[in-house]
Amino acid sequence: MSDCHQTRNPFTHDESPAVGVKLEHVSKNFGALAVLKDVSLEVHPGEIFVLMGPSGSGKSVLLKHIVGLELPTSGKVSVAGLDASDPTTRGKVRMALVFQAGALFNSLSVYDNLALYLREHRVTNEAGIREKVMRALQILSLENAARKSPSELSGGMRKRVAIARALVQEPQLLLYDEPTSELDPVMSATISEIIATLKDEYHVTSFVVSHDRSLALSIADRVGILMGGRLLTVAPPAALREPTDPQIADFLNPLIDVKNPRFKQLEA
Ligand SMILES: Nc1ncnc2c1ncn2[C@@H]1O[C@H](COP(=O)(O)OP(=O)(O)OP(=O)(O)O)[C@@H](O)[C@H]1O
Ligand SMILES: [Mg+2]
Repeated sequence: MSDCHQTRNPFTHDESPAVGVKLEHVSKNFGALAVLKDVSLEVHPGEIFVLMGPSGSGKSVLLKHIVGLELPTSGKVSVAGLDASDPTTRGKVRMALVFQAGALFNSLSVYDNLALYLREHRVTNEAGIREKVMRALQILSLENAARKSPSELSGGMRKRVAIARALVQEPQLLLYDEPTSELDPVMSATISEIIATLKDEYHVTSFVVSHDRSLALSIADRVGILMGGRLLTVAPPAALREPTDPQIADFLNPLIDVKNPRFKQLEA
């Protein structure tokens, strides 16, 4: 698919191109630790790509390469055809990252958390900022939380605030790191619906790192599975409902065996 797929911007309804992401033979070492091993992957403009994999398999590290927070030891990462490791790329492509732990400022109200990016980047005047912030809060059903501190909110509301804060940046590419972790199944389903709605209505490209099997199987266009730093497969969700590969099957449908517990086999 081409990188100039035309889509709509959630705030202005201007035509704005959703962007593709490409990883070519990406390896990443931290000292002697090889975290990513020859990963090649293409995310199409406007799709929801979900990256799954066990804890420590390198998912967050891979995501940080896309936004230029980590640089590959070898190989290449590009966003909209531009080198992700080039600092100027962030000025040319609007990317917003919803962090694993939310990364909200408790000293600021929800409103000011959202307004911060717009003020720092002098995007518009205070009236324009108010319009954009309230629009994002409305999309996430958070209007009544505007004056609260994030510390006063539930985990599910904080996740929604983190998504709203990403949304005010009017992203062409939205990246989520574990958007449903620590949430109950209903709130996880709500967040999954929000991610799907943002894709359907605003056609932003979504890259989601998640352990959440039901999120992946219900909203992904394609799912990638990363294990031990290697991308084992990229497949549509239907292909993962009954996986044949034993490693993937054990990851997606682990059996609990109290007579032969896994933790006894873990390395110290
Ligand atoms: N800056 C760093 N320096 C050294 N090692 C790192 C660094 N960042 C990550 N690692 C290591 O890379 C490996 C993969 O980490 P990563 O955070 O990508 O895992 P993950 O798949 O996101 O796991 P989880 O599902 O638990 O969030 C881990 O062994 C981690 O300790
Ligand atoms: Mg992680």
